[in-house]
Amino acid sequence: MDALYRENILDHYRYPRNKGHLDHPDIVYHDHNPFCGDEITLELKIRDGRVVEAAFDGRGCAISQASASMMTEEIIGKTLEELRGWTKEDILDLLGIEIGPVRLKCALLPLKALKAGVWGIEEWPHEE
Ligand code: FES
Repeated sequence: MDALYRENILDHYRYPRNKGHLDHPDIVYHDHNPFCGDEITLELKIRDGRVVEAAFDGRGCAISQASASMMTEEIIGKTLEELRGWTKEDILDLLGIEIGPVRLKCALLPLKALKAGVWGIEEWPHEE
């Protein structure tokens, strides 16, 4: 079973989903892993309190990039309220493999950016 999850992680790393930038995102949050310097920028478009588009950019190891790719797929359609309730278990469930303490920061970097983004801004400009 682990092999399937590993293959999925590699697939997301090689062919990241939602990588790039959005036109006029409502939420943009940049973060980095202080241990290695790897970075992520997360962009979200919000309508009626719900994520309608998500994208990420950055550079990092397979785990951090796969985690970002999977997370952006998963959060589209979710409400900000739901996302504010997300925990590290939600991300680890997506990855599906045992993550050791050293790689935990890699796996959770996208979640850190998400949490800071969805908690940080209460009102969004809605210019089409
Ligand atoms: Fe930098 Fe994983 S080694 S985020």
